[in-house]
Amino acid sequence: MKILVTGGAGYIGSHMVRTLGEKGHEVVIYDNLSSGHRDSLLYGRLVVSDLADRETLRILLQEERFDAVIHFAAFIAVEESVKDPLKYYRNNFSNALNLIDACVKYGVNKFIFSSTAAVYGMPEKMPVTEETSLLPINPYGASKMMTERALRDVSESAGLRYVALRYFNVAGADPMTRIGQRYREATHLITLALRTALGERKSLSVFGTDYATSDGTCIRDYIHVDDLIDAHLLGLDYLAAGGGSRIFNCGYGRGYSVREVVAMTKKVTGIDFPVADADRRAGDPPVLVADSSRIRGELGWRPSRDDLEFIIRTAWDWEKKRRELHL
Ligand code: UFG
Repeated sequence: MKILVTGGAGYIGSHMVRTLGEKGHEVVIYDNLSSGHRDSLLYGRLVVSDLADRETLRILLQEERFDAVIHFAAFIAVEESVKDPLKYYRNNFSNALNLIDACVKYGVNKFIFSSTAAVYGMPEKMPVTEETSLLPINPYGASKMMTERALRDVSESAGLRYVALRYFNVAGADPMTRIGQRYREATHLITLALRTALGERKSLSVFGTDYATSDGTCIRDYIHVDDLIDAHLLGLDYLAAGGGSRIFNCGYGRGYSVREVVAMTKKVTGIDFPVADADRRAGDPPVLVADSSRIRGELGWRPSRDDLEFIIRTAWDWEKKRRELHL
């Protein structure tokens, strides 16, 4: 297939581009390089442009006749979204509409969308199914929910069919350490724990130790980036076979506490880095674990990297390389 990958120079997008290239697909990457990197692209042709630039989008989609679009390009920092909501609504929602609009106009009828567990807000029942009410508690989650809604409405009125994947906590890196998380301002637990182990940070804070969980810290469903990429491939195959629009959770269905992640990070790195208990972080649900039976049942998703040690080891190998190369 000929596939457009927006945000393909970023963390998850670059893993997608790698796999599509390896499988022989023709890939065009659309990225403004605001957080992505040209040298994270192992395949494909890069168009450096912003999704706000409707004219560039229009010409590209008119000329290239893509079979499918995979849309990663978005901002992802929850706290920042609270401070600057318009930045999130503009890029994650309004710019997504530009892309969807161009797809409809130029006949791209297969669309894969990167959504998030943040659309659920603070769900009461665990694990979370796709039927759980969407009650996002921050502009980031709301911007993704609104794009999902727009996709739903457009797919009912036009020929576009989509798969929206609601990611849980994505981590890990390419096992051959060619690519990985490069964002300097990363806020995610595993990346920060590893950067503390490397000595790039003084100490790791544990945000909240008084939650009603087994050890008082928050529980999350960590999924290896390559199992997530497999879910995208299955979504593409499903749409190519004529499947209708569908939404799927992407997580393993089991959770680890912050303390468990810290302990595993110390084991994998062999470094007893400093850790300090801290106050709760605003907006953190105590537990967030996916019910992934829908994607397993309907797409036949069989994740093969459901192993916290493997997730952290691949991320660690990448972090060491990133540091060596001064990336
Ligand atoms: N945490 C720490 N210390 C840190 C960083 C994180 O204790 O330095 C804790 C957080 O408080 C949370 C857990 O580790 O309990 C995981 O936090 P992350 O920041 O790694 O990930 P989130 O669970 O906040 O984020 C994920 C997705 C978002 C999504 C959000 C919905 O990455 O896209 O879930 O809650 F919005």
